[in-house]
Amino acid sequence: MRLTDPKLLAALASLDVERQEGASLADLTSLGIGGTTDVLLIRRHAALPELVKLLDQAGIPFRFLGGGTNLLVRDGELPWINLQLARHDPDIRVEGHFAFVDAAADLGRTVTFCARRDLGGMEGLIGVPGTVGGALRMNAGAYGMQIGSYVREVELYRAAERRLETLRGDAISFEYRHTSFAPDDIMLAVKLELPPKPYSEILQGIRICNEKRRASQPLNQKSAGCIFKNPAGASAGRMIDELGLKGFSVGDARVSDRHANFFVNAGRASAADMLGLIAHVRERVRESFGCVLETEVILWTDGNGC
Ligand code: EPU
Repeated sequence: MRLTDPKLLAALASLDVERQEGASLADLTSLGIGGTTDVLLIRRHAALPELVKLLDQAGIPFRFLGGGTNLLVRDGELPWINLQLARHDPDIRVEGHFAFVDAAADLGRTVTFCARRDLGGMEGLIGVPGTVGGALRMNAGAYGMQIGSYVREVELYRAAERRLETLRGDAISFEYRHTSFAPDDIMLAVKLELPPKPYSEILQGIRICNEKRRASQPLNQKSAGCIFKNPAGASAGRMIDELGLKGFSVGDARVSDRHANFFVNAGRASAADMLGLIAHVRERVRESFGCVLETEVILWTDGNGC
């Protein structure tokens, strides 16, 4: 979708919003899949309510794009525009045991920035690509930890109610790859409380997690991490592996040879290829194990914006 409303286009500069015309979501997502649309880069959080008001007035549907690392986007011209937060500099501030982090901050950089200031707890998240906002939204976790445990406060834009809000950490529920945020809530900033630990100790934990991840996951290929959530008490990756589906492909969408719950874009996969692969694997798992796998990646393969 392209913005053409002259009043809206003229207002963008005064709101500090940069328009990337006809951006390819394939270039903005780790899977390298997705159609084209206008992307509006927001430099000031405070401009968001006014921007959304203008989009509403012009009848423009929108969706919010974080780091694009856990997302499968449909092919073709998209029937919505995307909003994305620009990175701030600095995007992390540490005070005592607290880290104040902008939602657009890179997750890995946040982990190492805090580590260097002797704040640990998030070692498991090293190597998880994406932004802090995306990690919050999904309650990203690995190797026995999840980011939700450290959240004390979140600033967000509630798209459904068209307003900014600050939530206390204990008012948010963080479960396995699920939170009580609404699907269209836009994370803006977070206050984390992190356990103090000497840098050398944190570094050791980071190294161990990095090694484990490198040994078991296809980090140098285009993917969105694990495609399916693990069902209670079972491993989606193990089930898919046991069915001999590693290497199985639909077009250029392929089950990784290294980790069966990672589906990679081995060339020029389309969203249709990836959806075909998801449907095939889900059906094979249902037939053999009697469980219907739920996707862990967010699907933007249908529908409109907010
Ligand atoms: N396994 C296989 N074959 C495979 C993959 C895994 O047999 O192809 C077996 C492993 O040997 C192991 C078990 O399945 O015994 C679990 O595998 P793994 O330790 O790799 O963990 P996972 O449950 O597949 C989860 C998260 C990952 C996270 C790792 C490490 C989900 C859906 N996945 O994977 O998160 O990095 O644990 O903590 O919860 C993601 O969310 O995108 C993601 C990659």
